[in-house]
Amino acid sequence: MAIATPTPASADIGVTGMGVMGSNLARNFARHGHKVAIHNRTSMKTESVFVEHGHEGTFIPGESLDDFVSSLSSPRVAIIMVQAGPATDAVIEDLASRMDEGDIIVDCGNALFSDTRRREAELRVRGLHFVGCGVSGGEEGALLGPSIMPGGSVESYKRLGPMLESISAQVDGEPCCTHIGPDGAGHFVKMVHNGIEYADMQVIGEAYDLLRRSLGLSPTEIADIFAEWNKGDLDSYLMEVSVEVLRQVDARTGKALVDVIVDAAGQKGTGSWTVQTALDLGVPVTGIGEATFARGLSSSPAQRAAARDFSGEATEWDITDRDAFIEDVRQALYASKLVAYSQGFNEIQAAADVYEWDINLGDLARIWRGGCIIRARFLDEITNAYQADPKLPLLIGHTFFYDKVITSLPSWRRVVSLAALHGVPTPVFSSSLSYYDGVRADRLPASLIQGQRDFFGAHTYRRVDSDGSFHTMWGTDERAEVVS
Ligand code: 6PG
Repeated sequence: MAIATPTPASADIGVTGMGVMGSNLARNFARHGHKVAIHNRTSMKTESVFVEHGHEGTFIPGESLDDFVSSLSSPRVAIIMVQAGPATDAVIEDLASRMDEGDIIVDCGNALFSDTRRREAELRVRGLHFVGCGVSGGEEGALLGPSIMPGGSVESYKRLGPMLESISAQVDGEPCCTHIGPDGAGHFVKMVHNGIEYADMQVIGEAYDLLRRSLGLSPTEIADIFAEWNKGDLDSYLMEVSVEVLRQVDARTGKALVDVIVDAAGQKGTGSWTVQTALDLGVPVTGIGEATFARGLSSSPAQRAAARDFSGEATEWDITDRDAFIEDVRQALYASKLVAYSQGFNEIQAAADVYEWDINLGDLARIWRGGCIIRARFLDEITNAYQADPKLPLLIGHTFFYDKVITSLPSWRRVVSLAALHGVPTPVFSSSLSYYDGVRADRLPASLIQGQRDFFGAHTYRRVDSDGSFHTMWGTDERAEVVS
């Protein structure tokens, strides 16, 4: 079947890039009554989406980019769903050169927010809107209702927002989509969402590893425990996914699938971006950082081979109260997860200050309740916390979460110390506990670091008892202090 000549300027929205995510998004729009123009660099893909799914709604396939753009009604809205990076710039330019003032280009891929800011500024000068839009939920979410995080101008949201809201996941009658803020705000928030996703996956992994190594439980037994946990505070999509994976039996060997998968975690980069950006902003996202580094460690074959025969000098496990230990691990997981979220929200707050984005943190948690990978029961409580205090400096300081952390604390300390004693790596459990102890500390050894910096570099320090900067004349016998 050949692609028909497009009807001029009648499509509500267009999607270019007919990979699985792009075609599923297009189908989602069509299923919600929007007339969708579709396009792909190679038109065979466009054609097959049209042939296979044409009955789901109104599609206007465009063989060329000219066809595609001219089939969009004004102001035009074109979504690009292509691999992040230079390919995105090329597609943007191809579209922009065919568009008119007031038209909107939307990038729904996982782009780096600084690229989005640059692209938005460049297109704004040309009178076009550029929207960096985070979309979470994987292939299924794109089709059935993702969580959507659009940035860009308020004006572009007026045209685009209602369509995005109609195809997003809905929770309690509310769409999991909201205007996040200008320029790169949407992609920034999606990036941190992914960073939190890394931490969330890692803490589940640490719990699995601990239960397996300490109690010798099988993947299926751990799946049963996780399924139980998923009925309470830890209720989340990622927990659900973990149960499915742990229950899967490999058809080829009859073993648990998890035992035949190579233990080297991959990443496409959003976790690293979250950490790199946090370093630039000076925000400690230790949970996300450790989760990202844990993937790096798992994927370091040379170092792992070199260390294979290292001794652990570890104590043998001897757990007398099995159920109590399992509960301790659950509590440690929960507390560590709360810390990771708290840190992720701090990173968003810090960026909002620097880039002057007026981001409503409560709304973020609200639109993450459905469709996205980190959807979880406790997001409702995060919304409540930020609604009560939009400037909340520390999520784990909010009464609801603080109570949870305090309840978890004895278990958390036991699990982290037992893991260390028994030689089980728990990078996120341990670093999150250290963060908790660090942030609550009355005095930190940072005063010594300031002294060291002043000693070797005359970097100066501030005093607890007077304003201003001071320097000690370390090189002199008197070591007198001077105001700097
Ligand atoms: C989502 C996911 C999605 C994807 C990322 C992370 O929200 O739908 O985050 O964007 O899973 O690409 O993948 P990596 O683990 O490969 O970085």
